[in-house]
Amino acid sequence: MLTGLSAVGALPASDPVRGVDEMSVEQRRVFLRGTLADWREDTSEKRGHEAPPIQKPYPPDAKRIDLVSPAKFTVGGMRVIDAIRDRRSRRDYSGEAFSLEELSYLLWATQGISRLDQDEHGKVVTQFRMVPSGGARHPFETYLVINRVAGVAPGLYRYLPLEHQLLVIREEGGLSKRVTGSCYGQSFAGNSAVTFVWAAIPYRTEWHYGCIAQKLISIEIGHVCQNLYLAAETIRGGVCAVSGYNQARLDALFGLDGKDEFVVYLAAAGKVNEAPHP
Ligand SMILES: Cc1cc2nc3c(=O)[nH]c(=O)nc-3n(C[C@H](O)[C@H](O)[C@H](O)COP(=O)(O)O)c2cc1C
Repeated sequence: MLTGLSAVGALPASDPVRGVDEMSVEQRRVFLRGTLADWREDTSEKRGHEAPPIQKPYPPDAKRIDLVSPAKFTVGGMRVIDAIRDRRSRRDYSGEAFSLEELSYLLWATQGISRLDQDEHGKVVTQFRMVPSGGARHPFETYLVINRVAGVAPGLYRYLPLEHQLLVIREEGGLSKRVTGSCYGQSFAGNSAVTFVWAAIPYRTEWHYGCIAQKLISIEIGHVCQNLYLAAETIRGGVCAVSGYNQARLDALFGLDGKDEFVVYLAAAGKVNEAPHP
């Protein structure tokens, strides 16, 4: 029988994960813990620095595509209890495309805006989205690799929550191989109808929370992906989360600097043939 500390499971001294790079396992674990000293002790906000933009800016002449307004959604009628019960990671997608309404719904469910609070000058000071976020800081941008969405050319896109629009980064077909390669050969990530690629802009959360921010960001992306899983379940969509990806390759695909903004998580999504209620 295990007794004492070892009962919780300790990494053996010989485990190969020790020493994979310049950080020890102990250093990596620090970020999972909180301490009282972390708690907003010294932050950019307290030092009077201006808050970063709540959404990444884009060129004013960039091509944008209107999404279907949440007020007009006809999808998503399944009971929450059924969606939770039926959720699975699904990697086998049919060739069917998502409709624009379905994509709009998935984007709204994961990062859509539910409320904007403004100051007396009309400047948005706080935003609330469909998912929770520590201090309502919402550190994520949603990038998309679109392969099959009715009426939308295959290519790379970014969701603009404030406008509820798609920003066209680049219309380009044949991205499957590149995305699969960026995910260490996981072909479902490249063969999806849409692959959601979430990037973090850590300073949005660090500005308010200081050095506990990284832990919050890591937690919060799970909320986002879980909403995708559940929303997709209601439209005969299948989702599979992906954490196995090549950081440098995916950052490069979307032109992210890998320092102030970088990919933190992915999820492939597509229509599935199986009935939603097995
Ligand atoms: C953080 C995280 C990372 C994951 N990364 C991958 C991945 O890279 N490739 C993959 O095929 N599945 C990945 N998955 C899906 C898991 O394999 C899946 O959730 C698990 O097998 C349990 O199955 P279920 O989701 O159907 O309950 C990931 C899931 C999570 C939560």
